[in-house]
Amino acid sequence: MLTTRPRGTSDILPGEVEKWQYLEQVIHRLCREYGYSEIRTPIFEHTELFERGVGETTDIVQKEMYTFLDRGGRSITLRPEGTAAVVRAYLENKLYAGPQPVKLYYTGPMFRYDRPQAGRYRQFNQFGVEVLGSHDPALDAEVIAMAMDFYGRLGLKNLNLLINSVGCPRCRPVLREKLQDFFRARVDRLCSHCRGRLERNPLRILDCKEERCREAGKDAPTSLDYLCPDCEAHFQAVLKQLEKLGVAFTVDRSLVRGLDYYTNTAFEITVQGIGAQNSIGGGGRYNGLVKECGGPDIPGIGFALGLERVLLTMEQQGIVIPRPPKLDVFLATADEAARDRALVLVQRLRQEGLAVDMDYLGRSLKSQMKYAGKLGVGLVVILGSDELERGVVTLRDMSAGSQREIPLDRLAGEVRQHGLKHVSGEGKYGS
Ligand code: HAM
Repeated sequence: MLTTRPRGTSDILPGEVEKWQYLEQVIHRLCREYGYSEIRTPIFEHTELFERGVGETTDIVQKEMYTFLDRGGRSITLRPEGTAAVVRAYLENKLYAGPQPVKLYYTGPMFRYDRPQAGRYRQFNQFGVEVLGSHDPALDAEVIAMAMDFYGRLGLKNLNLLINSVGCPRCRPVLREKLQDFFRARVDRLCSHCRGRLERNPLRILDCKEERCREAGKDAPTSLDYLCPDCEAHFQAVLKQLEKLGVAFTVDRSLVRGLDYYTNTAFEITVQGIGAQNSIGGGGRYNGLVKECGGPDIPGIGFALGLERVLLTMEQQGIVIPRPPKLDVFLATADEAARDRALVLVQRLRQEGLAVDMDYLGRSLKSQMKYAGKLGVGLVVILGSDELERGVVTLRDMSAGSQREIPLDRLAGEVRQHGLKHVSGEGKYGS
């Protein structure tokens, strides 16, 4: 146990973590361009927030939450998603009193007690955005286009954007009744959870992961058949805006999404080739959620994308994330006297903004060079006491296999020059 991490979690090691840093760079840049500000909310919240926000009859609340009593006897839940928490923060910090709409984004870990498999974890990371305070269908289109833009900037291809409208509290009662009639005739084919959902929230049956319920739900009535005129107009306006933006989509009338707060627009982005977990992102409008959480009647819309699934897809599609060199220069020492002056020199170079490291295992010069090679360093500075007496050091270009002496006081400038030459050819990531 001591050397094994909990199932469904992962260690992101050096070598892998650079990919995450790259994603984060792309995210921050994208969000700035679309006018979004970052928000960071707690990893855990009061359980009630998710019960009320996500919905008591959802799979997330019924089966997947990490819920526990803290030492003060309060029920706490590790956040399974970000939307409810952002809405809570919007209310608690009275962001509705400032200029609207409020455009927020977040990245970070979410927790769901799901059955782990490829692309499905118990701790996973989302990039999400939430916009509060506008009904404008242009915003629905912007949010969707932004998700697609993110994937596009990463170079992802062959994505499917599925879109639907799940209606509003005015049109939903009709659908609810139709669904109840439909499933009452098939109740013996439903799992025990869904039998319970039949009276309370039949829409959730359409989202059950059990094969038998999926089978029973085929040909069930859909929300698009029962939209009220306002919802129908909103949906058509969103589709029109998407067309204008050149964002390709497929209307999927069976798309319901797994969270209760959705109204009107619901969408999901899927991709083939990463296993059964083919949804790499999803979102929609939630015009009733702010009110449900005790606030004013303020609409919202957003999405969240699963970053592990994004990385899996990039790998599967052969997209390589270039890695910047770890160090600008390695400082090797030829003898004891030089070693004595090494740390001070390393520190001085770091203060000049260079990434530098040295040997701390008392290696011979030869093994220091070997070690620098293993680190993938392109440039090594060799410090010898004779040279130091003369105020010079040796600079070795590892890939060219050449070396030359330079004055010690020109070292930082030479290293920077070498770095510039090499980076311009390679296209350092994120640039
Ligand atoms: P969601 O569909 O539950 O929506 O999750 C969004 C994305 O998170 C999924 O499409 C998937 O890529 C990723 N994801 C979900 N569960 C897992 C898992 N167990 N392992 C790995 N990745 C996973 C939401 O969370 C909503 N809050 C989205 C939203 C924001 N709607 C409006 N605003």
